[in-house]
Amino acid sequence: MANLCIVGLQWGDEGKGKIVDALAKDFDVVVRYQGGSNAGHTVIVDGEKFVLHLIPSGILREGKLCVIGNGVVVDPAQLLEETDALVARGIQMDGNLLVSDRAHIVFPYHKLLDQLKEAGEGRIGTTGRGIGPCYTDKAARVGIRMGEMLDAARFAERIRANVEEKNRLLTALYDAEPLSADGIVKEYLGYAERLRPLIGDAVALLAQCRREEKAILFEGAQGALLDVDFGTYPYVTSSSASAGGVSGGTGVPPKAVERVLGVMKAYCTRVGEGPFPSELADDVGNLLRTRGAEFGATTGRPRRCGWFDAVAVRHTVALCGADAVALTKLDVLTGIDPVRVAVRYRCGGETADHFPADARTLADVEAVYESFPGWEEDLSACRSFEELPAAARSYVQALDDLVGTPVETISVGGDRRATLRR
Ligand code: IMP
Repeated sequence: MANLCIVGLQWGDEGKGKIVDALAKDFDVVVRYQGGSNAGHTVIVDGEKFVLHLIPSGILREGKLCVIGNGVVVDPAQLLEETDALVARGIQMDGNLLVSDRAHIVFPYHKLLDQLKEAGEGRIGTTGRGIGPCYTDKAARVGIRMGEMLDAARFAERIRANVEEKNRLLTALYDAEPLSADGIVKEYLGYAERLRPLIGDAVALLAQCRREEKAILFEGAQGALLDVDFGTYPYVTSSSASAGGVSGGTGVPPKAVERVLGVMKAYCTRVGEGPFPSELADDVGNLLRTRGAEFGATTGRPRRCGWFDAVAVRHTVALCGADAVALTKLDVLTGIDPVRVAVRYRCGGETADHFPADARTLADVEAVYESFPGWEEDLSACRSFEELPAAARSYVQALDDLVGTPVETISVGGDRRATLRR
């Protein structure tokens, strides 16, 4: 099996967790390469719902090795909460999870700074999980990494120095109460004690896996439109959320990714601020939200909903080099007639089929739609592509043509079995 990267082609929440879960059985290793507990991957196994924020969803398949790569920012409290919850629900957690010693740690001051910044002007609508400030520290070379948990005395010293500096920022810039260094040291030394057995050299481990020709699945979080470089900057997350993030976020060479599968929803959603040309502020938007259960898995926030945007997805398909696409939530469109797709943008009297780099330009474009006949049938019981109504099959073919990449897998419900191959 060729090493595969599964990546979101929209603004996240495309249903990657379910696709990873469905494909993980064919792989030996599942690796997260970016993001942190801002992500929320929902997987339903035998009617039981699992929401994972940090641990790769491959953990739900027995016998898979899961790795949290160096590109991930790790909130230790969240990680422990997840491992405890999985153990409590009977999932095997014994030597099958490794956290990179190079991954950066999220601290309470990161979360506080994230929330304070969001309370001011120019808010992004972040998840408030400290993601931006943690990556800021990483780039500023003052971050603290998981490997540093292994030397308690030095770890405590590093935390104290950082809390002292952040307290100056908190009090002077935000007029906030300083944080207690003692409290944070105590809390994090406790986490270190428990996480110690999970921390290791993920670069060496993945190199070893490659030598042994193990099949590796790289699990993207968020979506390529939230990529810090190629997304709708500044309304993005702070990591490389497109397929290009794999190498920097794990230490495998770029050529280790042999195949890319993009995941896209049959319509479009976004959480937080930022331009969204095909957004629907009407009953259809409300219907998509209710029927698609479009509320954040991490924050519970209602997601903004709209029509599928082929201009945006063509951009991310090219960016990620998607060899094929998995289409999710097709069942949610039942009863909506016609179904529309944004195929071009109109900007200042001109039409364009190019996705602009500047968020302000994107905010000014008007989407130009093509309409497709809807269908009335419930799709959730369909178990093959041929069982889908003709109009749903035509819609899938239209998306295939519009994004220029074969739609290989179609999801028509939350259950593992509601996944059709085409
Ligand atoms: P942050 O990643 O918390 O800094 O948030 C930055 C932007 O990315 C905000 O618009 C968030 O709503 C969005 N975001 C972050 N993680 C996810 C996700 O997993 N799904 C969807 N949107 C996300």
